[in-house]
Amino acid sequence: MDKQVNGSLNPKHVAIIMDGNGRWAEARLRRRIIGHYVGANRVREIVKCCPDLGIKYLTIFAFSTENWKRTQSEVAGLMRLFKRYINNETKSLIKNDVKVRFIGIKLDYKLVELMDELELATSTNNGLNLTIAINYGGRDEVSRASKRLAIDVASGKLDANSINEETLPKYLDTYFLPDPDLVIRTSGEARISNFLLWQSAYAEYEFVDTLWPDFTDEAFIGVLNNFRTRNRRFGAVA
Ligand code: FPP
Repeated sequence: MDKQVNGSLNPKHVAIIMDGNGRWAEARLRRRIIGHYVGANRVREIVKCCPDLGIKYLTIFAFSTENWKRTQSEVAGLMRLFKRYINNETKSLIKNDVKVRFIGIKLDYKLVELMDELELATSTNNGLNLTIAINYGGRDEVSRASKRLAIDVASGKLDANSINEETLPKYLDTYFLPDPDLVIRTSGEARISNFLLWQSAYAEYEFVDTLWPDFTDEAFIGVLNNFRTRNRRFGAVA
């Protein structure tokens, strides 16, 4: 498939809800964590193909504030996987000029140390901006941002009357990112599950049936081609 893109219609920022790992594994009578491991391989490949597709920002939802409701063994397995991913991928992310940032509340001590090291090690890169959401929830993010706004108002640093649509995003975890143009969710579920609630106000959505471990580069290109047919009006008349 032609990987050339029409610059004006290409999404600058793509965000992905990587769903379906558990079902992928269960369909093969494997443990759910196996699906997550295969899903991590897809992350590696999708990250690699973004620059060729003209995508400058990729944001992926790896673990939500609600995912703690899963079994202790799945949660522990996912935390181990994130650590392993960082350890295994750091060299290749540096080599491929990927700048990594994490959003969400940083919790697990060892994981936070690795996350901070990866952010620092890739901080001067200029290629793809990869943002990984771990222990992230949109409502939690807006609540934390509001709290910081309130503190700044109380201390006199910020005038309450000056708060507007430009002010609040500066307090969000994503203050360094443009809004996503396209949000993709795999696995056939059509919901946004608390992902980038503020930021996606004018994003285009693509819900695809493919389970995340089966979401190939070709499937990704197919979704991008659909995006190019959209008529984005941002509330104006065409
Ligand atoms: C949702 O599938 C997926 C997750 C909660 C975890 C996503 C994690 C990865 C893709 C692993 C790798 C990520 C990084 C950054 C290394 P699900 O478990 O809800 O699937 P189901 O709906 O079929 O049960």
